[in-house]
Amino acid sequence: MGVIIKEVGKALPRRVVHNTELEKLIDTNNEWIMERTGIEERRVAEEEKALDLAAAAAREALGDTDYDTIDLLIVATVTPDMLVPSMGALLKKELKLANAVAFDINTACSGFLYGLWMAEALMKNGAAEGSHTNHIGRALVVGVERLSRIVDWTDRGTSILFGDGAGAALLEMDDKKDGILSSFMKNYDDEGDVLTCGMEYLKNPFAKDEDVKQCLRMHGTKVFKFAVNAVGEVMDEALKRAGLTPDDIDHYIPHQANMRIITSAAQRFKQPLEKFQVSINGTGNVSAASVPMAMHDCYRSGKIKEGDLVMLVGFGGGLSAGALIYRA
Ligand SMILES: CC(C)(COP(=O)(O)OP(=O)(O)OC[C@H]1O[C@@H](n2cnc3c(N)ncnc32)[C@H](O)[C@@H]1OP(=O)(O)O)[C@@H](O)C(=O)NCCC(=O)NCCS
Repeated sequence: MGVIIKEVGKALPRRVVHNTELEKLIDTNNEWIMERTGIEERRVAEEEKALDLAAAAAREALGDTDYDTIDLLIVATVTPDMLVPSMGALLKKELKLANAVAFDINTACSGFLYGLWMAEALMKNGAAEGSHTNHIGRALVVGVERLSRIVDWTDRGTSILFGDGAGAALLEMDDKKDGILSSFMKNYDDEGDVLTCGMEYLKNPFAKDEDVKQCLRMHGTKVFKFAVNAVGEVMDEALKRAGLTPDDIDHYIPHQANMRIITSAAQRFKQPLEKFQVSINGTGNVSAASVPMAMHDCYRSGKIKEGDLVMLVGFGGGLSAGALIYRA
């Protein structure tokens, strides 16, 4: 018995912002961005709320599934529309998922990986003999971001990298298939505050809080080094736990943060780059939505066949990282 990934979904805002448009806002150019990141354009929400994107991606993943059979909904995001209710609660209401337990998680760009890891554990726990917790036959894990709301559009070190979008995966218990074979999540302390976004709360007459600007701050080269090392570590560990070698994996679907990070993972594990899903050029880094969006691209292009071994890899703020291997 295993937890399988049954379907995926993806949604993007309509507005495309090409690198050449950024040239008009900041001191940058298309060639530099393409060469250093692999990003050519990204989507930016003009009218779409995060909820609209999440709902569209979730509906695609759900297809004609009976919505009443969804027992769990986990939304990974750092840019929810509201603090209360959570995106999970908003999405549950929007989709009319009568029986879903819904909540959010924030582990930045690793969020979707942590969501899958948690969903699998909760599903297996609920199914175990003598279990005293919720039975979960089907779960929906969604990654959604409107990072354009927390990007400083005057900062050329960050504004070129990020975009908006949503991705979703429908998980199901299956008594004949393996599904998820292994996973490994790890948190690393962000000692140098290399990737942060503050919270801009209201002033109150009693507290002595300093003013905080709610925008992404990043030390690019330090994050780059962290990412390369963390990706190697979590991939290694997930492979070890599944008893597999890099050659056994048919498709690698990494977080889409920088093409050079993807290339370095391929080199480290001596794998052809063709095995790695690359979606970054059209969307940039969409944090928790990047991995499910890239999964969607990999499925819809017909690359993933039943029985193939797939590895998902995430890394990001926290600092955090995770890898998960499943049989399609
Ligand atoms: C941000 C990033 C693309 C910068 O690339 P880099 O190769 O590290 O570039 P550097 O920051 O060293 O800057 C190199 C030069 O380009 C300049 N530069 C920086 N941003 C620029 C831009 N948008 N356009 C043009 N030039 C730029 C710098 O000022 C620097 O100039 P200098 O050599 O005259 O000082 C890269 O560090 C990166 O992708 N880091 C990881 C980010 C990430 O993954 N974040 C999310 C994690 S989930």
